[in-house]
Amino acid sequence: MARIHVQGTEVDITSYPGETMLDALKRTGNAIRVGCRRGGCAICKVEVVEGTYEYTRPIADKVLTEEEIAKGTCLTCRAIPTSDMVVSLAGHHERVNTLMTFFQQHAQNKAV
Ligand code: FES
Repeated sequence: MARIHVQGTEVDITSYPGETMLDALKRTGNAIRVGCRRGGCAICKVEVVEGTYEYTRPIADKVLTEEEIAKGTCLTCRAIPTSDMVVSLAGHHERVNTLMTFFQQHAQNKAV
């Protein structure tokens, strides 16, 4: 399990083992734009400010530019956290369900 902190918010998400960043973010009330869910369109991209992740399934070769890769952009539909992370939604996505986030965080705090 890894913690994903959404930069600029007080939101910390605990991801489940093997869970993609996309699923963890959506499960906790973040509206992440989604396209192919197969690493082929880059609609789901976010910027990783801190932390590491891995792609356990392939992504398209040319879907991210070298500049995006250099600044830490990743495809959330395929990325699985391998450490605690800080991510920036960078204006691409929005937090829309704060009530869901509240209940998710409450449930996580009880589980600890
Ligand atoms: S949804 Fe298409 S690359 Fe993630």
